[in-house]
Amino acid sequence: MSDDSGWQVAQAAPRHYQNQVSRFMEPFATALVDACVSNGDIVLDVACGTGIATRMAADKAGTAGRIVGTDINGAMVDLAAEVSYRGNIEWRQASALDLPYANGIFDSVICQQGLQFFPSPEVGLAEMARVSRSGATLGATVWSDLEDSPYLDAMHHMLGAYCDVDQQEMAWSSDSEQVVGWFLDAGLNEPMIDSLVLTVSLPPLEDFVPAHMKATPWADRFDSLSQTESANAVRFMSERLSDWITPAGADVPFSSYLASIVT
Ligand SMILES: C[S@@+](CC[C@H](N)C(=O)[O-])C[C@H]1O[C@@H](n2cnc3c(N)ncnc32)[C@H](O)[C@@H]1O
Repeated sequence: MSDDSGWQVAQAAPRHYQNQVSRFMEPFATALVDACVSNGDIVLDVACGTGIATRMAADKAGTAGRIVGTDINGAMVDLAAEVSYRGNIEWRQASALDLPYANGIFDSVICQQGLQFFPSPEVGLAEMARVSRSGATLGATVWSDLEDSPYLDAMHHMLGAYCDVDQQEMAWSSDSEQVVGWFLDAGLNEPMIDSLVLTVSLPPLEDFVPAHMKATPWADRFDSLSQTESANAVRFMSERLSDWITPAGADVPFSSYLASIVT
């Protein structure tokens, strides 16, 4: 099985990720943790990135709980460990397709905006189910149709138009049938699917977009734009987001599925 995993960042990107991307990841991580984690749980966060959901899970599980955050990208895991102060979290670099854990040991297994980047989401889900105990809650968030997340949609079009990023590289959303199909192909029951639409307040786009781009796999391509091109790229996004611009920045809806099962 190839582990040519999508959505990889390098060098300074994890710090930018932690500072910028958390703005729109946090409300979805909160919903995922609320739905899946209980006090005292032993929790696994798969594709944890810089640990946004992992830290929330640690708070919800409390001192009696134990949390593990894993990601294939060692730089993300290292930053997660650096910015986390909670004692009940262990961090480990690991592929979601080959989790280094025994069968049936976790009470809750979560994956926040990671599944869609695995070379095989169904293998990732089968692994998440394998390490879950019977009766555990397994949950994942996946962006729904990008048109329902105008900021991500504008970014998608901007990267295509200004940075020559092809559609394949930006497969970061899904439809509900596909998400259900991943669970069924993993040999699991049909998941319960909640559609979450949450409005996020972003700072002025001239500040936020260049900072956010540094946190993505396309950082080098955005960085190599001239000043004029980069200003035009931000203007391109601002025009697409004109309905949501506010005096302080932009209040934009983001839409995600929250798929969950009890194993
Ligand atoms: C969009 S980020 C989400 C990170 C984090 N869950 C959050 O909410 O901020 C996607 C993450 O998936 C990770 N990833 C991609 N493929 C993976 C794989 N095969 N195994 C484990 N992690 C993977 C990436 O390294 C990245 O950290």
